[in-house]
Amino acid sequence: MVREVITYPNKLLRTKSKDVQNFDEELHTLLDDMYETMMDQSGVGLAAIQVAIPLNVLIINLPNDEDFQDKDDLIEAINPVITHKDGEQIFTEGCLSVPGYSEDIKRAEHIVVEYFDRNGEKQKMEAEGFLAVAWQHEMEHLDGHLFIENLSILKRKKFEKEWKKKLKDKN
Ligand code: CO
Repeated sequence: MVREVITYPNKLLRTKSKDVQNFDEELHTLLDDMYETMMDQSGVGLAAIQVAIPLNVLIINLPNDEDFQDKDDLIEAINPVITHKDGEQIFTEGCLSVPGYSEDIKRAEHIVVEYFDRNGEKQKMEAEGFLAVAWQHEMEHLDGHLFIENLSILKRKKFEKEWKKKLKDKN
């Protein structure tokens, strides 16, 4: 089922998510719904808090070399922890909770992350480039933060002004 994606400035997005305790049917339904919702909105990643569920759950599905989002590449991560970060990269990011906006953000180039899959099996992954960006972006959601918080003061001010206007025009 496609769920509603909450958008900035919804205060729920500032919630610090909690660890999943039970790897049960409810978790699997959440993961399936998150995948449907992400694909419905043409996203490449989604955190549970974006569908208003404050749990440490995220999914990532980047397009492959043929620019196709193969479900075989889908990453489902429960209670993820980044155990190592190094390097630096700048990547143009967007977010389904800040629709229509994108900006360059500085992140670590290379990360190591540990997490659990939907069956509660422990997993470990190394990522670099776009995949490392996606992990760091989604992990930030679980901490109650958005990528726009990484903007310079000037860019953030410009964003807030444009966003307010956009919200006003919509109503
Ligand atoms: Co996002």
